[in-house]
Amino acid sequence: MPLHPHTPDPGNDDELSFRPQFTQHGEVGEVPRLRLADKGMPPRIAFQIIHDELMLDGNARLNLATFVTTWMEPEAELLMAECSSKNMIDKDEYPQTAEIERRCVNILARLWHAEGSGATGCSTTGSSEACMLGGLALKWRWRQRRVLAGLPADRPNLVMGANVQVCWEKFCRYFDVEARLVPVGPETAHLTPESAAEACDDNTIGVVAVLGSTYDGAYEPVAEIAAALDALEAGGGPEVPMHVDGASGGLVAPFLDTKLRWDFRVPRVQSINVSGHKYGLVYPGVGWILWRDAKALPEDLVFKVNYLGGEMPTFALNFSRPGAQVVAQYYNFLRLGANGYREVQATCRNTAQWLAAEIERLGPFTLVSRAEGIPVFAFRLTDTLPYSVYDISEALRSFGWLVPAYTLPPALDDVAVLRVVVRNGFSRDLAKMLLENLETVLKRLATSVGPNRGPTEDKASFHH
Ligand SMILES: Cc1ncc(COP(=O)(O)O)c(C=O)c1O
Repeated sequence: MPLHPHTPDPGNDDELSFRPQFTQHGEVGEVPRLRLADKGMPPRIAFQIIHDELMLDGNARLNLATFVTTWMEPEAELLMAECSSKNMIDKDEYPQTAEIERRCVNILARLWHAEGSGATGCSTTGSSEACMLGGLALKWRWRQRRVLAGLPADRPNLVMGANVQVCWEKFCRYFDVEARLVPVGPETAHLTPESAAEACDDNTIGVVAVLGSTYDGAYEPVAEIAAALDALEAGGGPEVPMHVDGASGGLVAPFLDTKLRWDFRVPRVQSINVSGHKYGLVYPGVGWILWRDAKALPEDLVFKVNYLGGEMPTFALNFSRPGAQVVAQYYNFLRLGANGYREVQATCRNTAQWLAAEIERLGPFTLVSRAEGIPVFAFRLTDTLPYSVYDISEALRSFGWLVPAYTLPPALDDVAVLRVVVRNGFSRDLAKMLLENLETVLKRLATSVGPNRGPTEDKASFHH
């Protein structure tokens, strides 16, 4: 979360403005903004003040920057409201919520081909927490191996492409692991089998492969990376396990790319995470991680909580968390089934591929990716023009669209792109409207004289 500094002297910022209807006759309506008022206020007024202020937030459905679900069915919202007061950690108090979490883990285990391997897993607040848990398990296992062999265990590293999501850099910094970021190049904006194997040594705790790169939506070649690591080990090199960051692709590939071998069918893959709140189609606040078997998750990372007179093993960074999102995940699994998920994801990917092709046809753009993995694509300006992708992003905001502009990862950071994430609820009709608005923006920018904005002028968008 952003770090907010304390403002000891708020000056003119001290009072919330108060509408006359909200005061009793003769009363002065003043509410401090940055400190607690002495008196409270009626619920309707508190609601209205906050509701009015929130009108300034963007429309979440038009936010094409986020991977996170922005539309759910009213029945799911009802269940979430029912469960937002239940604490996930109180397994004893809310055994049915715990049971629903167990069913979701089992559903994912089957989708990821873990049958018979003794897979185990849990829900988290999102993929970031799931990745931290996956990284910790890799670190613990590596350390156990090193200590048992009487070798130094103080310089662990984790190998991954420079295109990984920031959560992996966080994991490395917070848990004292060298982030061995393999540079990506103009031919491939992601990790390759050769570059992954080359970067590994005896201190490598694991290799992370991303199924659905945050930058351009591409799947990294999990099976090929695993084969390169097999060859490394067969040639006398280290034994390096893999974690698959399937934040987005983990609930796309099982429905649309059934022949692709990326999951527990690949023996080297020890753990997989997914964001339930991305293509799992749940509102923000839920992720999942599974380990292929008990060996992959060291016992001493696991804590026990009370459960129906016994104990239940848990692995989490935080403690209290609402049950709503886990219940909503199960609602989607029940409601959609495999066919429903397939239809939703196929519709998103078809829309993304259609929109990418139409954008290419507009003329000034080159596609950096075509939504062949997750329903996400990126595009850049082909030539130097009097306007930049940052100008386009800014101009699209006047129509309500949030289309982020940003530079690709290090080594490709001279390439600035726009990226579109197509999610459930972004219909072909909305895509057509975006296209029309983009055409209007291009015409306007071509004729208006103005500075060509770059990322340094505070125009690079937030892009997760
Ligand atoms: C590949 C990848 N990993 C991890 C994350 C972090 O996910 P979350 O927002 O669920 O914490 C993201 C978010 O976009 C992502 O794209």
